[in-house]
Amino acid sequence: MTRVFSGVKPTGHLTLGNYLGAVRQWAEVDQHRSDALFCVVDLHALTMEHDPARVRRLSRQAATLLLASGLDPEQCVVFVQSHVDEHARLSYLMECTASDGEMRRMIQYKEKTAQARERGESVRLSLLTYPALMAADILAYGTDEVPVGDDQTQHVELARDLAVRFNQRYGQTFVVPRATRPTVAARVMDLQDPTGKMGKSLASGPGIVYLLDDADVVRKKVMRAVTDAASDVVYDREKSPGVANLLEILSACTGKEPGELAAQYSGYGALKRDVADAVVELLRPVQERHAELAADPGHVESVLRAGAERARGLARPTVDAAYAAIGLLAR
Ligand code: TYM
Repeated sequence: MTRVFSGVKPTGHLTLGNYLGAVRQWAEVDQHRSDALFCVVDLHALTMEHDPARVRRLSRQAATLLLASGLDPEQCVVFVQSHVDEHARLSYLMECTASDGEMRRMIQYKEKTAQARERGESVRLSLLTYPALMAADILAYGTDEVPVGDDQTQHVELARDLAVRFNQRYGQTFVVPRATRPTVAARVMDLQDPTGKMGKSLASGPGIVYLLDDADVVRKKVMRAVTDAASDVVYDREKSPGVANLLEILSACTGKEPGELAAQYSGYGALKRDVADAVVELLRPVQERHAELAADPGHVESVLRAGAERARGLARPTVDAAYAAIGLLAR
């Protein structure tokens, strides 16, 4: 059976981008057709300046939201990265397989380094080595497919390269993974700046719809979305990125093609109202389930404990094999 692995980083509240670009697909498709693991990758949240209490809170919330979105512990493994030591163990071997040049070429490294410098913060070494840890996350499980939004494909490509290189140097050890992406909404854009992605780590929220935003907040954000000077509703990402983004969000909610939807509107007001309604309806069941689960933190903890146990059992043989292959003595 196909092995699937993916993860979400608890650096901020989960967004509509995370949901449409990744989590919904995991819940609706991946967990049913494959042998899947989904992970709150908390170690990755330590690569930028962080507040320990906030990371702890966001990790619990992200795990709760994964379950609220429909990930079913009977169908897939849900766990927290730091509970399974194999990730950090294998990450070091990935650092010994990658070159510093390929790490420095990563777009996210360049962007995040620039942001940290702008804020006068120093850049943590772990920000540079982040893709080695991400490769370890993926390769430890013999992963075939990694369902991610567009912004993560470069990191998955690097994981592929490292798997191939390691296998060539030290003998067949890793499955070579590939990224898969949703057919629509692989890149949901910020409603206020539709040339940039809707990202959870940004400090300001008016262009970002969070999964736990109240219905009236969602409506306000969508109604204030930046569109264009022209008033025709056309689906054109280059010329009309704000409108295209709204059409893609609506498409992801309704299953209709963005171009087909564009033809149904003569003005932005009606389009925005329909997008707002569709997003509110999309999020409602997730929010209701989240409220129930948040009231029973013991349940979420026990799911995560059992998930980590299963994940450990799956990762250990591969990581042990990699340690042996690279030349380390057996324990
Ligand atoms: P993260 O936490 O930034 O995002 C989680 C998932 O959501 C997708 N995503 C989006 N998709 C569409 N539009 C958007 N605006 C948008 N924003 C985020 C991301 O592509 C991702 O699929 N490095 C990863 C976490 C990670 C990981 C892994 C993923 C660590 N190890 C191993 C897969 C496999 C990250 O920061 O995702």
